[in-house]
This record gives sequence, structure tokens and C-alpha cells, in this order.
Amino acid sequence: MHLLIWRKKKSIWCRPSCIPVSIVIVLIVLVVLVPLLDQPNIVQMNATSAPISLHCSDECRLSLVESIPEGHMYPPNVTHLPTKNVWLDLIDEAQTQIEIASFYWSLRYNEEYPYNSSIEGEQVFQALYAAGSKRNIDLKIAQNWPNKQFPNVDTEYLVKKKAAQVRSLNFSKLLGNGILHTKFWIIDRKHFYIGSANMDWRALTQVKELGIVAFNCSCLASDLGKVFDVYWSLGTPDAVVPDSWPEELSTDINMEHPINISDSQHSYGAFITSSPPPFSPTGRTNDDTAIVSIIDSAEEFVYISVMDYQPMCTFTHKLLFWPNIDDAIRKAALENNVKVKLLISWWKHSSPAEDHFLRSLTDLSQAYPKVDLQVKRFVVPSTPEQDKIPFARVNHNKYMVTDRSAYIGTSNWSGDYFTSTAGVAFVFQDLNNDGNFQNITRDIRKDLQEVFERDWNSPYAVPLRRL
Ligand SMILES: *[C@@H]1O[C@H](CO)[C@@H](O)[C@H](O)[C@H]1NC(C)=O
Ligand SMILES: *[C@@H]1O[C@H](CO)[C@@H](O)[C@H](O)[C@H]1NC(C)=O
Ligand SMILES: *[C@@H]1O[C@H](CO)[C@@H](O)[C@H](O)[C@H]1NC(C)=O
Ligand SMILES: *[C@@H]1O[C@H](CO)[C@@H](O)[C@H](O)[C@H]1NC(C)=O
Ligand SMILES: *[C@@H]1O[C@H](CO)[C@@H](O)[C@H](O)[C@H]1NC(C)=O
Ligand SMILES: *[C@@H]1O[C@H](CO)[C@@H](O)[C@H](O)[C@H]1NC(C)=O
Ligand SMILES: *[C@@H]1O[C@H](CO)[C@@H](O)[C@H](O)[C@H]1NC(C)=O
Ligand SMILES: *[C@@H]1O[C@H](CO)[C@@H](O)[C@H](O)[C@H]1NC(C)=O
Repeated sequence: MHLLIWRKKKSIWCRPSCIPVSIVIVLIVLVVLVPLLDQPNIVQMNATSAPISLHCSDECRLSLVESIPEGHMYPPNVTHLPTKNVWLDLIDEAQTQIEIASFYWSLRYNEEYPYNSSIEGEQVFQALYAAGSKRNIDLKIAQNWPNKQFPNVDTEYLVKKKAAQVRSLNFSKLLGNGILHTKFWIIDRKHFYIGSANMDWRALTQVKELGIVAFNCSCLASDLGKVFDVYWSLGTPDAVVPDSWPEELSTDINMEHPINISDSQHSYGAFITSSPPPFSPTGRTNDDTAIVSIIDSAEEFVYISVMDYQPMCTFTHKLLFWPNIDDAIRKAALENNVKVKLLISWWKHSSPAEDHFLRSLTDLSQAYPKVDLQVKRFVVPSTPEQDKIPFARVNHNKYMVTDRSAYIGTSNWSGDYFTSTAGVAFVFQDLNNDGNFQNITRDIRKDLQEVFERDWNSPYAVPLRRL
């Protein structure tokens, strides 16, 4: 039985001045923990056969959600539900409440740009507006504090029309730096979407996005609701990040105790991660902890598709090295001989430093015969007209899939996104993957693997530049 091998890291910190206290703590630890450690199998078995400290009888309907930039990149039979359709469906499903966590808002029709490609964003905006006004749905929006670049006129309009309650988070005040970069929707604490798509018309027609939607999935939707509650509380005028969060925001669903959710074909152990750590009440797994653990526990392959990859914090005054994920990748390739493929976006705003970090990874492939670490850059093709649309035509995906697990997130893979910027991820582990699953017709992990392979083998994935 190799279920639930999420690895735990423990560290014990001590300063010289705390030695007497530590002796007491050590004694307490010995008395309390040793009997538990004696029977790890029992604890583990319970976690596996009933990972639900709370009962969850949901039959979630899970699907991948994609935006494929206009222009016939792929035949429709190899793509997943379009983001716009899923968002409109979610709005339709709402009975009482829609909660949206967002970075910025720029959904509405914009006649400056060609192809009418902002009409779809306008449609979503109108549906939200109608829900909040005509349908009496309680529409709550948490967003990053607006600024010159992102004036968020859409949400200003919704507030003016009394169609939504909006709270803006000032990260300079809350944490010193960072942004609210999260993107998720929760409907009636029952259905949800998590993915890379911003509340931007480009996210529906001009930027390549990937997310996941879960219908009828209350246990996880309520858990994600706790993350929304954190943002909501931090959006009040005098908010400060508390030293410890109220008990009702803590969670029992995490990397150590994923919740068992099933769709009609398949069971998964799933949980929601969050960053940055100061935003996490008790029990919430940090985003980067989950990423490292997933990479560590892969046995055959790790496929990563993210927009930006840099083992650095770059938003800080001084550049900081942040090697947590980079180390895990190197270790998986060198120690576990796991095949690693990274598909990193390339567009005109890509940082030149990325090429060097990526090159240093692929260079390891020559170190020993069994090391297989490959990198490609993904370039979304554009016509000259499309090229004029600012901040568009890019692969904005942020996910990872291994032979056992999948991670669908909202963060770029650079240090800032795990230390000071808010993001979330939906993580799941295949519970049927016991080598006996050929007959399962649909499986989200496999779907995600196929998305990666489609992109990796497409003409849009190009080798790293020779430097
Ligand atoms: C494990 O499950 C059994 C049977 O359901 C129960 O009696 C026992 O208390 C559980 N142990 C733990 C550590 O939760
Ligand atoms: C998860 O739940 C499904 C449906 O209730 C059940 O069939 C399956 O055995 C469970 N799997 C685990 C590992 O608990
Ligand atoms: C998609 O359709 C093309 C023909 O248009 C076909 O060759 C291909 O096998 C199909 N792919 C899948 C995954 O169904
Ligand atoms: C854009 O939409 C307008 C109004 O619906 C329509 O008149 C125009 O023909 C459309 N343009 C294109 C290029 O589709
Ligand atoms: C955000 O907080 C910073 C630091 O307290 C403050 O200087 C700034 O004015 C705030 N921004 C807004 C728009 O309130
Ligand atoms: C949720 O489940 C109910 C009962 O099985 C079903 O009628 C409904 O269509 C489902 N909703 C969605 C959005 O799948
Ligand atoms: C990260 O992602 C955002 C959009 O989601 C993008 O604007 C930004 O340039 C990316 N890169 C970095 C290093 O912040
Ligand atoms: C697997 O699928 C095949 C073909 O659909 C079917 O004949 C077989 O009985 C299935 N096996 C199991 C164990 O369900």
C-alpha cells in the first residue's frame, strides 16, 4: 500500500537561552508523542481509509478548464472546457452567493483591440452584474488594491450599482510587499474554480490558461471558503495580519490528511494549499511545501508547466536566493532518477535571468547517465495584429503533474509567490493508482498529463536558446 506518502518535514529550533525550557518541552514531547510514534501504521491506516476527519459524501464533478488563445492552436478535440463557458455555468448555478478572489479586473469590452475578442469578457461581466443586481445573489469580491496600472473600474462599477461588495487588500500595509495574486471562484460554498485565469477579457481569448472546476464539491468548496474568509478579513480598513488566526478558519484537510473525494469513475485524495504562510490558519498546507513534497514523492516523472520559473525573490529590495523548489527538482532527477520536464513560457516580458537558471538545470542531464532533466520554452503564436494587444499571447499555466499527483495553482514559480504573494492551489493524489486502473475511463490526473504532453510535443514548445 503506497497511498498517502506525503512526506513531513520537522525541524527543532533552539537558541542557547532556551535550554531549560527545551528540556521541559523535550520531556513533554517524550511523554505525549512517543506512544503515538510507536504505532505509526495505525495512524496512517486511519488517515488512508478515512482521510475525512469530517464526513464528505460528495460526488464531485471535476473537469479541467482551459483558455486557448484565438487562432487555431489546437484542434478542439484535444482541449478542455473553455474558461468562459465554465464561468458562465458557475454564475448560472448560483443560488445565494458568489465569492471571487482576484488580482485585478479588466473584463469589459474594449473597442481598442481587434477581433472583438473582449466581447466574451463583457458577457461574463454582464452575467455577474445581473447575478448581483437582478438575481439578488450575494456577490463578494476580494481584489488586490487598485493602482494606476490596474484601476479596477469593473469592480468600482459593480459597487456603484450595488451589485457587489468589494474589498481591496493593501499588501504594502499587510506584509510590506507582495500582491493578492489568487484567482478562484466559489459558488454557494458548493462549486468552485481554481486556475491561472485573471478577471481579464484576455484570459478568455488571448492568454493560454489552465484551471479546474469542481461541481457539487461542498467539502472542498467550504474549505476554500476559509481562504476567502482570510482575504475578506484582511480587506477591512484597519486589518492587520494576526499572529494566530481564529479557530474557525483552521482546517483538517491538508497534505497529511487529504480528503477523499470521488467522481463517478475515480477517487482522489485532495486538499487546498495557500501562500504566503502568514495567511495560513492552523492546518493549512503551504503552497511550496506541497510542491516540494509532490516532487519528492514522484516515482517516474515530474512535468511542470509554469509561466515564470526563478529560484529567486525579485520583488524584495535586495535579490534573494530561494532554492526550495529548484533543490527538489535537482534531487528528484539526481537521486530518484525521475524524468523531469519543465515547460516555461517565453514572451517579450520574460526575464533574461530565467534562461540561465533553466540552462543550469538541463546541464545536469549530462552529469550521470540516468539523469533526465529537460526544459522547453512555450511561445504562443501571434499575428501582427494580435501582437499589438498588451500583456497577451502568453502561456499563463501554473501546474504540475507526476505519475501520482497533480497540482493546479495560481502562482508563478519564483520565491516571492511563496513568501509574500497570495496564491492557492488544488492538489490531488490518485487513490486508484495501484497499477490496476486501465479500465478507468476518465481520470483528471491523466487528463492533465495529456495536456502537458500535447503542449510539450506541439510546435509551440521550443528548445532553450543557446547562450
Ligand atoms: C482508527 O480507527 C479506529 C476504528 O475506526 C478507531 O477505533 C481508532 O480510534 C482510530 N485511531 C485513530 C488514531 O484515529
Ligand atoms: C474513497 O471514497 C470512495 C467512495 O466513497 C471509496 O470507494 C474509496 O474506497 C475511498 N478510498 C479510500 C482510499 O478511502
Ligand atoms: C482529434 O481529431 C483528429 C482529426 O481531426 C484525429 O486525427 C485525432 O486522433 C483526434 N484526437 C483525439 C485525441 O481524439
Ligand atoms: C465586432 O462587433 C461589432 C458589433 O457586434 C460588429 O459590427 C463587427 O462586425 C465585429 N467585428 C468583427 C471583426 O467581428
Ligand atoms: C497601502 O499601505 C501603505 C503602507 O501603509 C500606504 O502608504 C498606502 O498609502 C496604502 N495604499 C492605499 C492605496 O491606501
Ligand atoms: C449536483 O448534484 C445533483 C444531485 O445529484 C444534480 O442534480 C445536479 O445536477 C448536480 N449539479 C451540478 C452542477 O453538476
Ligand atoms: C507572474 O505572473 C504574472 C501574471 O499572473 C505576471 O504579470 C508576472 O510578470 C509574472 N512574473 C513575475 C516574475 O512576477
Ligand atoms: C475492462 O474493460 C473491458 C472492456 O470494456 C471489459 O471487458 C472488462 O470486463 C473490464 N474489466 C474490469 C475489471 O472491469
